[in-house]
Amino acid sequence: MTILKPPTPENIKHAASILREGGLVAMPTETVYGLAANALDGQAVAGVYEAKGRPAFNPLITHVCGLKEAKKYGAFSEQALAVAHHFWPGPLTLILPRAQGCEVSELATAGLDTIALRAPAHPVAQYLIKECGFPLVAPSANPSGSLSPTTPAHVSETLGDKISMILAAGKCEIGVESTVLDMSTNTPVILRPGAITAEDIARILGEKVIYHHETTNTPKSPGQTLKHYAPNTPLRLNAVDVEPGEALLAFGSLKFMGVRGGGKAQNLPDTALCNLSETQDLHEAAANLFAMLKFLDRPEHTRIAVMNIPETGLGIAINDRLRRASVESS
Ligand code: TXA
Ligand code: MG
Repeated sequence: MTILKPPTPENIKHAASILREGGLVAMPTETVYGLAANALDGQAVAGVYEAKGRPAFNPLITHVCGLKEAKKYGAFSEQALAVAHHFWPGPLTLILPRAQGCEVSELATAGLDTIALRAPAHPVAQYLIKECGFPLVAPSANPSGSLSPTTPAHVSETLGDKISMILAAGKCEIGVESTVLDMSTNTPVILRPGAITAEDIARILGEKVIYHHETTNTPKSPGQTLKHYAPNTPLRLNAVDVEPGEALLAFGSLKFMGVRGGGKAQNLPDTALCNLSETQDLHEAAANLFAMLKFLDRPEHTRIAVMNIPETGLGIAINDRLRRASVESS
């Protein structure tokens, strides 16, 4: 059974229904093919990280059909509005503060208070996003560490067994990922170069636009330049019990979990207890991770004790983030 489908209205409708149910679809954009999932559905977003085999949660781009939708998720400055008006739809991603009430999953933005937004120009991507009625995360549709795909065949060779449908619309016109422009602070900075250049953007803004490496003198890949979300409260990993004063981030049953000195973990106050997944489902745990860390990150807790999470599948990325957070906060 081939999952490669021409982008007819019926197939796009079907793709939208797969996405509505939390599934994955590869969609063409003018830059590269994207591995799309519903950006509002944390478990669907977890599926993207799993299919790509990413060992870490890097924030993803949320794709919308235009500025009107983008404003629901990102807070636009006057400058950002000018740039979006000029270059959207097109191969430009804007990093903006998350808007008040932004419903995009915390996993999509990896717990950061900024969001990456892009309105792709490809008519099939536009049609699909409109048909869905919700925004789509879409990293390049390739396994982590390999080349970004610019043809449907390229997607099916490497990810064919992991996704439900590939909307096959031929070769991508541009062939490299979108320019990523950080407009979340007063100084616009290009984090990832792409078809739209610093000069193109400077012409619209009337000021010089710099590349990230010009601010640090060392060229860095986008992953390295990223700030990572970490709670202020220290973490204690692989906890088998809870110490007085600690909050608990659980994974699985609490039946055998006690509080040192007496008491049961399941009787902790609501503000001191979250369960990533009672059934030990790693998708559910990934989807809950950042929101629960933020919820438990309160000054009244001395630490957040975290139960063991298996080092398999999405557990690898979950543990990566927890380990980083425990180092950064201690
Ligand atoms: O052309 C493209 O942009 C393709 C097509 C499919 O649209 N998509 C793509 O998505 O390349 P993705 O998710 O792989 O790219 C994410 C880039 C990474 O460089 C990431 O570090 C950066 O955007 N990014 C995402 N959110 C960010 C944030 N809040 N702050 C800084 N960088 C962010
Ligand atoms: Mg990529």
